[in-house]
Amino acid sequence: MTQPPPVQQLELRGGGRMPALGLGTWKSDPGEVGAAVRAALELGYRHIDCARIYGNEGEIGDALKSAFADGVVARDDLWITSKLWCNRHREEDVVPALESTLADLQLEHLDLYLVHWPVAVREEVVGPETGADMLSLEERPLLATWRGMEACARKGLARHIGVSNYSAKKLRDHRDAAHPPEVNQVELHPYLQQPDLLRAADEMGVVMTGYSPLGSPDRPDTMRKGDDPVLLEDPVVAEVASEAGCTPAQAMLAWAMQRGTAVIPKSTNPDRIEENLAAAAVELSPEAMERIAGLDRHRRYVDGVFWTKDGSPYTIESVWDEGA
Ligand code: A2P
Repeated sequence: MTQPPPVQQLELRGGGRMPALGLGTWKSDPGEVGAAVRAALELGYRHIDCARIYGNEGEIGDALKSAFADGVVARDDLWITSKLWCNRHREEDVVPALESTLADLQLEHLDLYLVHWPVAVREEVVGPETGADMLSLEERPLLATWRGMEACARKGLARHIGVSNYSAKKLRDHRDAAHPPEVNQVELHPYLQQPDLLRAADEMGVVMTGYSPLGSPDRPDTMRKGDDPVLLEDPVVAEVASEAGCTPAQAMLAWAMQRGTAVIPKSTNPDRIEENLAAAAVELSPEAMERIAGLDRHRRYVDGVFWTKDGSPYTIESVWDEGA
């Protein structure tokens, strides 16, 4: 087997290095995700991004256990992230939620635990159908949830803690916490570059991870609109890729890593899993980086509309802290 390319490591506040490229597992179906994780580990991935809500942590746990047993990788050489779901935002619910995820993943600790969304739903609800299923941030304050996250770190159940889908304003609200968020995972790609959020995060010492870095072509139908541009078919990305001698997906992943963010492309296809890892060896010229920078249009594929059903305490503006 050829040696995998070295993957850049991102230093987190307080020590610890997160591999800048990981395997995403959102939308990776049970029955497929275990083989995808195994293939990724054999190819040289050392970072797997998971979440309770993806409904596949049990199968990922089995894949990790057999990979450790077979000597594919050692636990200490692997970075595992998971995320707290929105129905466990009460301070006292956070540690038990993480313990349940650890049981599914068959791990003693996570490398990184994230609050999945700055949005709360009732404890008995998983996916809200109406606004009545939701709880406001007055009822479930994010800073109380955060104290639960800090307890996870104190107990050694999560080496690092962070958030996901948080605006700069919400990050700032956590600045005075005993252990402020170390990572913010948000949607990032050439059509949604979020330079202001990246700058604010940098000032606060928060490392950014980009989800849906390829424009999430397999996102659910409920997240599709008729006029959605297809990022993987962008002609400028295609030109940059052909000049750099790589694929469009690799060009976008290399761009993400070169701007200092981590990136977690999802695939369950072994060839594409390998292709995406090889992006770590792609170097884009300053001119190519500029051309991709010129593609920004603040276009979300995961727009958060699903939090704003009739009677919801949330609006698109309040989820993102920005105008519609
Ligand atoms: P598949 O799992 O069949 O490989 P994102 O990470 O932005 O959510 O994108 C995931 C989607 O992109 C999935 O549909 C995945 O399909 C596809 N994908 C992953 N890697 C590549 C690639 N290198 N080239 C084209 N499509 C890819």
